Amino acid sequence: MPDALNPADPAFARDPYPYYARLRAEGPAARVALANGTHAWLVTGYRQAREVLADPRFSNVPPRAAGRPKPDSPAQRARGCLARHMLNTDAPDHTRLRRLSTAAFTPRRVDALRPRIERLTADLVGETAERLARDGSVDLVDAFAFPLPVLVIGEVLGVPEADRADLRTWTYQVGSPADALAPGAVDEAWTSLHAYFTELIAQKRRAPGDDLFSALVRDAGEGGLDDGELLAMAFLLLFAGYETTMNLLASASLLLLTHPGELATARREGHDRWAAVTEEVLRHASPLEGTTWRRTTERVDLGGGAVIPADASVLVVLAAANRDPEYFPAPDAFRPDRYLADGGRAAAHVAFGHGPHFCLGSRLARLEAAIALPLLFAGLPELTLAADPAALDYRPGLLVRGPRVLPVRGAV
Ligand code: HEM
Repeated sequence: MPDALNPADPAFARDPYPYYARLRAEGPAARVALANGTHAWLVTGYRQAREVLADPRFSNVPPRAAGRPKPDSPAQRARGCLARHMLNTDAPDHTRLRRLSTAAFTPRRVDALRPRIERLTADLVGETAERLARDGSVDLVDAFAFPLPVLVIGEVLGVPEADRADLRTWTYQVGSPADALAPGAVDEAWTSLHAYFTELIAQKRRAPGDDLFSALVRDAGEGGLDDGELLAMAFLLLFAGYETTMNLLASASLLLLTHPGELATARREGHDRWAAVTEEVLRHASPLEGTTWRRTTERVDLGGGAVIPADASVLVVLAAANRDPEYFPAPDAFRPDRYLADGGRAAAHVAFGHGPHFCLGSRLARLEAAIALPLLFAGLPELTLAADPAALDYRPGLLVRGPRVLPVRGAV
């Protein structure tokens, strides 16, 4: 094992899997020194990952914000609001927030988004085709994988179309490293988002639409979420929904472009095969590399020699669990057929988590992929990679994983 794990190391960000495989071989959970001087327990075994995610002794409430700057600027206050969301709570608070949100996220409401998502996707594919024709190559993350989820969340939140360009810009800015933008731009984006969502809630109260967020605001009036919780919910939907889905679409495009046989089969066979492709991308390229951090409320013995003390930071590494060879034969191979009805007995992946915090947006994410991938490859049939896949730059960190840029070219 290397001395300390540096999640910002570009080689690790691109391919963390050999490291996780070595860690798993030593035991289902291990205490790892991180390059920032802290330690964390990384859970890499599939069975143990599910156990931890369903075990109330692993808390989601972040430790007291010791050492963090006081929320004394508007931007920090705006960020502070974000921290009140349900992913940062345990039962019974979590149960209440989750119940109210699940009521708004019914399968019927999610499925009703289909025609809108189809139109948004077709428009983006058209724009990407124009850019390809004009420039010869484009970054598929920038042109497609990033904007589509943001536009879809715009539908979920019922953001008027005229405001979506702003939403897209602010989201991009708060998700970018501060040093990549003009000084103050990130802070400004946070305060703009805060002000925008505050006004959006007021507007939904005055004139509710048929969007999911209006349903949440309406339920709030009946003893549900307070205004701060609604604001945090809007932020959570935006951030839980865009970066994850962006990575899913980017990794799916990359895997299909580097596995042309699989792409051809999906094109030929249609719906069920595309669904299997999506499941296998979720397993193979887990867009959320790790869950949010957990903290042990007491000593926990996970078996296999892994005994985690009380008050320890724990990260369930979904990317590692999804490649546990005990559950997924040939785990490093991209084989969509393992998720076909007659394709064997692949275990359910944990890309959407497990237990009480299981992804609220999994149905929406699957719907987006089911629409986006076939339309993208039908609209741009000549798409090819314009970069060496082994040299692509990946997002740093242990929490999300996906290529930062995906240069493609294609005759259109
Ligand atoms: C490919 C896309 C996505 C992936 C891989 C993904 C994955 C996950 C995972 C692993 C969790 C659990 C995290 C934990 O236990 O710490 C989670 C939670 C959550 N996701 Fe997703 N997600 C995706 C898309 C979405 C979308 C589109 C939305 C909503 C619009 C969404 C909303 C949420 C919410 C609200 C939670 C918190 C649930 C709770 O705390 O009870 N996600 N997601």
